[in-house]
Order: sequence, then C-alpha cells, then structure tokens
Amino acid sequence: MKVVEAINISTKFEDKLIHDKLNFFVNENEIFGILGGSGAGKSVLLRQMLALDECQSGEYIILGKNLRTMSEAEALELRQSWGVVFQFGALFSFFTVFENVALPLKEYTKLSELSIKELVYMKLNMVGLDENVAKLYPSELSGGMVKRVAIARALALDSKLLFLDEPTSGLDPKSSRDFDELVLSLKEGLNLSMIMVTHDKDSMRNTLDRFLILKDKKIAFIGNHEELLATNKALYEQFMG
Ligand SMILES: Nc1ncnc2c1ncn2[C@@H]1O[C@H](COP(=O)(O)OP(=O)(O)OP(=O)(O)O)[C@@H](O)[C@H]1O
Ligand SMILES: [Mg+2]
Repeated sequence: MKVVEAINISTKFEDKLIHDKLNFFVNENEIFGILGGSGAGKSVLLRQMLALDECQSGEYIILGKNLRTMSEAEALELRQSWGVVFQFGALFSFFTVFENVALPLKEYTKLSELSIKELVYMKLNMVGLDENVAKLYPSELSGGMVKRVAIARALALDSKLLFLDEPTSGLDPKSSRDFDELVLSLKEGLNLSMIMVTHDKDSMRNTLDRFLILKDKKIAFIGNHEELLATNKALYEQFMG
C-alpha cells in the first residue's frame, strides 16, 4: 500500500517556480527521505503533504484521501491519523511533559483521566523515557529528550504515518545516533511509515529506506543508497558522501 502519492506537483510563489511537476510515492512501513540543498523546497513539500500549504497544480493522495477534494470530516480524520515532529520540537513550554503528551488524547478522544494517564506513560516508555520525566517542563529537558517527547505526542493517537522535519538538527552526535535507533525501532515495532526531511548524512545512511533529492525544481533522484551510488556518484558525494 502507498501512504503518500504525489502526482505532478508544481509550486510557485509569485512568479518563482519552486517545484516543477514532481512525482513520487511513499510505501507503507518505509522511512522516506526528502533531501536537497537549502531553499530547494523540502519544507514546502512537507507542509503541502500536511495540508498546511497548497500547490498550484497536481494532487496529493495521503492515506487514500485526496487533499484537494476531501470533505471537512475527512480532513479532520486525516489530521488525527498522522503525527508531526516539527524542526524545533514545538512542545508547549508552560505544560509539563505529561500534559504535552496528553494533549491530543484530551482533545480528540473521550477517554477517562485514568486511561489517558496510562496511555501517556505507555507512550513515554515507548520512546525510551522513564516516568520521572513526566512531571518536568520542556526547559528542563535535553534536546534529545525534547525530540522523544515530541514523538510520543505525535504518536499519542496511534498514528501510522509520521512526518519529521530535521529531527536530529541541534542534537549532539550521540543523541542523534540514539534518535536514529529510536526511529528504526518504532518503524519495526509499530509498522510506522515515516517521511523525514534531513541534512544529517549519518541519519540518512542509518535510517532511510528510500529518498528523493530535490534539485533545480525537479527530482534529481529517487531510490535507495545503492541505486544512487551505482547511477550517480557525483550526486551521492554531494548529498550523502
Ligand atoms: N510562504 C512563502 N512565500 C514565498 N516564498 C516562499 C514561501 N515559503 C517558502 N518560500 C520559498 O520557497 C523556497 C523553498 O523553501 P523551503 O523552506 O521549502 O526550502 P528548504 O528546502 O526547506 O530549505 P532549508 O534546507 O533551508 O530548510 C525558498 O526559496 C523559499 O524562500
Ligand atoms: Mg526547510
């Protein structure tokens, strides 16, 4: 099954063309990378898939729903069936870790306080954080812990599709590699599909099943590491070497 299909996507800001007829898809249970230089249009692509930005032409089918033609009710359902970890963690600083992770559960479910409590601890455990972390505020956490809490919150509603924008940026090398392992274990354990924008070359090598490279408004490459190395050494060196 395909969790994302992007068909003939073109994006323009004023007169400036950013994406020129892009086509790609993401398979279920795959970690798919979006790579490219600064300003290549990676974040815009991510925002479009999340229905936060629009493209000028083309279609996105996300988890079987066409973003352009779906109803309000389908849009609401879709927003609850994916998770997002934005670049800067984006935890609510006045809320504790517990409250941050509980937020989507309180907003979108009718679960009892007790069930929410159990679920929050389960989600924290899933991302490798122990119970004592629950009462801390985001300012008391390391960068790596903030990312873990952000993932716990993004997966609170049992999402099967997770979007990550530069998840290891700002983390030290050790925390970044721990994060790669977490991502891989979640993929295996929860049958997750992930779409990740990243500049981190180790992270690319460790985690990505397939990826696309945006260059000069087009997809310069789409496939896996071996295929890129075999077909375009120069591009490999530029983005992953
Ligand atoms: N709302 C907007 N209005 C006008 N131009 C925009 C808007 N959003 C993005 N752009 C332009 O679109 C291009 C792509 O931006 P985008 O943020 O997707 O780049 P990126 O690949 O994520 O870069 P980086 O690696 O630096 O994060 C840039 O030239 C940017 O200036
Ligand atoms: Mg960006």
